[in-house]
Amino acid sequence: MSSLRIEGLGKSFDDLEVLRDLDLSVEPGEFAAVIGPSGSGKSTLFNLVSGLDEPTTGRVLVQGGPASVESGKVAYMPQKDLLFPWRTILDNTALGLEAQGTGKKEARARADALFADFGLDGFQKAYPAQLSGGMRQRASLLRTVVLERPVLLLDEPFGALDSLTRTDMQLWLAGMWQRHRWTVVLVTHDIREAVLLADAVHVLSPRPATVVGRIEVPLPRPRGAEDFTTPEFAATERRILEALKGTTAVASP
Ligand SMILES: Nc1ncnc2c1ncn2[C@@H]1O[C@H](COP(=O)(O)OP(=O)(O)OP(=O)(O)O)[C@@H](O)[C@H]1O
Ligand SMILES: [Mg+2]
Repeated sequence: MSSLRIEGLGKSFDDLEVLRDLDLSVEPGEFAAVIGPSGSGKSTLFNLVSGLDEPTTGRVLVQGGPASVESGKVAYMPQKDLLFPWRTILDNTALGLEAQGTGKKEARARADALFADFGLDGFQKAYPAQLSGGMRQRASLLRTVVLERPVLLLDEPFGALDSLTRTDMQLWLAGMWQRHRWTVVLVTHDIREAVLLADAVHVLSPRPATVVGRIEVPLPRPRGAEDFTTPEFAATERRILEALKGTTAVASP
């Protein structure tokens, strides 16, 4: 059974058609990337997959069942995942678990157990303003991952970071995925990020968005910085660019 199956998905807001006949599936343990022009409907797609909004046509199946917030199958890190400035990092990362009914003590213990892995050990009692941008993003990701849901949705998690930090974070995430084998759907504008991390890259058209290409990434795992300069890496980037041709501007990294 696919972890995620999207069939003939359409979404309109009044007269604005955002998604049209969009099909996409993700298998258990797969890292999928979704790339597409700004405003094409990527965040809208995630809102439907997480059950926060309803499709106009078509359907979303998560582990064979309908998408809903209550089903607890999807952990969603939204594009602007803000940490509460008045809460410590530990309290921020335990927040999602607490919101779903886990007791405060257990929620904190489970979040705390991940701090070392996320390069945040020693910062449990710090406040968000005391962390670097990359650390804040890792904390937001920790808050999402600690929920241990079957599917992780990451909407441009590194979009706001400077290029060097972003590369560090991408390499770090590649290593984390290698160990944890989460089922991930990552939205990104960054072709290089998609190639480094994903098993398959789904390319969206401009609005109304539909999938215009699915490009497999043939690079062996584990992947690291040495892969950036291989001919296979460049060839895969070219195939994605090719599929994006005809779509509007895609920000370069
Ligand atoms: N709740 C809403 N009501 C009306 N229009 C909406 C709503 N949500 C999104 N839209 C519109 O849908 C379109 C797609 O928005 P969306 O945020 O999904 O794009 P995106 O691909 O995530 O863009 P970006 O790459 O810039 O994050 C935009 O034109 C946006 O204005
Ligand atoms: Mg978006």
